[in-house]
Amino acid sequence: MIFEPKWKSLLANTIKPIFTPQQCQDIINMGHKQKSEEAKVGHTDKAGGNYDTKKRITTISWIPFKEMPEMYHMIDRTMQQANGNHFGYEGMTLTEPAQFTEYPKGGFYDWHMDADVNCQFEPPVRKISMTILLSNPSEFEGGDLEFMTEGNKPPQLMQGQAIFFCSLLRHRVNKVKKGIRRSLVMWFGGPPFK
Ligand SMILES: [Fe+2]
Repeated sequence: MIFEPKWKSLLANTIKPIFTPQQCQDIINMGHKQKSEEAKVGHTDKAGGNYDTKKRITTISWIPFKEMPEMYHMIDRTMQQANGNHFGYEGMTLTEPAQFTEYPKGGFYDWHMDADVNCQFEPPVRKISMTILLSNPSEFEGGDLEFMTEGNKPPQLMQGQAIFFCSLLRHRVNKVKKGIRRSLVMWFGGPPFK
């Protein structure tokens, strides 16, 4: 018996924002309260990758689960719905804390996959990735999330809207031309594919 999700897809966005502008601001404030770091790329060692400004310019911080339980609950519920309706992966769960990301003017993240070919330093297999736009789109220009897919162009995200995608899809955030783009990024995992 093969389980078929209702609307099979490797890319799915919520129809409406899942967080209000005020909730987005609360997440931004919490992101700013945490220790920030320049983002690394890749998983080439146990330290979690290397700095490479040719590949990525982003400031990040991590939001501990215990700081925003309601936010995590909402994200989990939404991810489970998206998985049930579109992806159909088994045993999907919250495995890693959310990454608050800030792309300043000139910030970007070049083409990459969120699940590494070599998974030995990764938590349970990353299968679904998520981005929630926290900024109001009027606050920045550029900084579009793009996918290397045939035709399947994602929508321009609204503030508080979430997009979920298969972690094996190549994607990028193109250069921010004006303002600051703030988003919340998460990865969800489960048992290995079988
Ligand atoms: Fe990514």
